[in-house]
Formats: sequence, structure tokens, C-alpha cells
Amino acid sequence: MSDLLQVENLQKSFGGLTAVADLSFSVPSGSVTGLMGPNGAGKTTVINLVSGLLRPNRGHVVLNGERIEALPPQHIAARGIARTYQNVRLFSGMTVLEQVMAGCFLRRDTSLFASFLGLPAANAARRAVARHALELLEQVGMAGRGDDLAEALSYGEQRRIEIARALGTQPRLLLLDEPTAGMNAQESDGIGRLVHSLRDGGMTVLMVEHNVRLVMDFCDRVTVMNFGRALTHGTARDCMAHPEVQEAYFGRRDDAERIRALR
Ligand SMILES: Nc1ncnc2c1ncn2[C@@H]1O[C@H](COP(=O)(O)OP(=O)(O)O)[C@@H](O)[C@H]1O
Ligand SMILES: [Mg+2]
Repeated sequence: MSDLLQVENLQKSFGGLTAVADLSFSVPSGSVTGLMGPNGAGKTTVINLVSGLLRPNRGHVVLNGERIEALPPQHIAARGIARTYQNVRLFSGMTVLEQVMAGCFLRRDTSLFASFLGLPAANAARRAVARHALELLEQVGMAGRGDDLAEALSYGEQRRIEIARALGTQPRLLLLDEPTAGMNAQESDGIGRLVHSLRDGGMTVLMVEHNVRLVMDFCDRVTVMNFGRALTHGTARDCMAHPEVQEAYFGRRDDAERIRALR
């Protein structure tokens, strides 16, 4: 399997703090790749670097063979990377359908502004976008919910809308930063199954995830970070068996064994 994304010797500091020290890993095409690590390990910073919100001090981000680390976020989005945020970011006062349409418009020639002015060409574009957005709602399990206001939804539902909005930009690579944060087991599994269905439809996913069980169940491979570096790569099972990972995650190893026994 070829790699859709390669991160090479990436480094990012904030003042005197090194958030990403020297990180290399790759995301195979068609995989769900998990990015794990304790709080403060640098995971969100990696997502910000890959999506272009931040620029690295050193190192490369390579998408399908092309270096993108110096490009602005909208150019990176145009090359096929979309993301969600650790804290769901939806637009307040917009319906579910409008949220998803906003994502779709990022990929259209006719500007969102023109469509609000009601120009004829824009109206046709708007109808096409609405149709596409309805399909995306169905894809994320939110069919029939287009008229709801986003603030009236549960976390699980809000996250599905955020994912649908990201899909509206027609990405090749979807970056999800803790997509199950704040959710119960049932909602989390629902997101895991959604991620699988996207992968089975050809999407490549890089997912920051804290929940070990979810990573075990839904990630094809994993990179574990600590202190801005990769501790190990491999299957979820192999990574979790790694002594340094157990220490980074659970403190002492015998603690880890107790925790495993409880699962
Ligand atoms: N924009 C920022 N400015 C300053 N420090 C930051 C910024 N983003 C992250 N950091 C710091 O970088 C480190 C890694 O943070 P982060 O990437 O959010 O970790 P994680 O997502 O793994 O919990 C933390 O010490 C955090 O305080
Ligand atoms: Mg984070």
C-alpha cells in the first residue's frame, strides 16, 4: 500500500517549548491511521501542521509525493485535506443542512456571496450543493435532520455534522482530532463505524484518538507519540504491548496490567 501522507522530521516550537520535536510517520492510502499519545504529546499540533494552520520550523509534510508544508491552509484544502477540531466547531444559528453546504461551497467556483445575492447561475449551484449536502447527511447517518439547528444536537450528532462538512470539500485525507471526545461508548462506537464506512468508500483517515478500545477496534495502524516524537508505529495491538507506550499511557507497567485486567 502506498503512503498518501508522509511526515518527515517535523519540528515545531512555541517560544521555548518544543511541541513536536522530530516526528516522522506515514499514513497509507486507504487506511484508518490512529495518532495516540498522552495529553500534551503534540498530536493536535501535528494536525495543525498537516492542515496548514501552523508552519513547521523544520521538516516536511508530503501529500501524494508533493511537499505541502509551506502552503496556506486553503491550498492544502484544495489538494484534498479536510479536518475536524478537538472541540467541535460549527457555525451557530445555521441549520444542519447549511453547515454542510458551507463545506461544499469551498469546492465551488461560484462564490458563497453570489449565491446569497440570488444570482441565477448561483441558484443552480446552490441547488446542486444542497443535493450534495443531503447525500452527505445520509452518509454520516443524519438523513432527515437537515432543518435542525446545530446547537440542538448531541455531541455525537454534532461531530457527524462536522465530518459531513469536512467531506463537503471532497477530501482524499480526512484528519479527525479526538472525534469521540465527550461521548459515551455507544456514540463513540458509532463514530468508529462511520470512520470505517468512509474508509471502505475509499477515504484515508488520520485520527487522533485517546480511547484505547476504539483504536484497537477501528484503526488499521497506529503511531504513538510522546514528548513530540514517535514512540512506535504498527498495529494497535503491537503498539499497546510496547513497554514505553504502556508507561507513557498508564504510568507504571504493573498499573497498565491492572487496567487491562479491568477491561
Ligand atoms: N498555539 C500554541 N501556542 C503555544 N503552545 C502551544 C500551542 N499549541 C500547543 N501548544 C503546546 O504544545 C504542546 C503540545 O500540545 P498539543 O499539540 O495540543 O498536544 P496534544 O494534542 O497531544 O494534547 C503542549 O505543551 C501545548 O501547551
Ligand atoms: Mg489535542
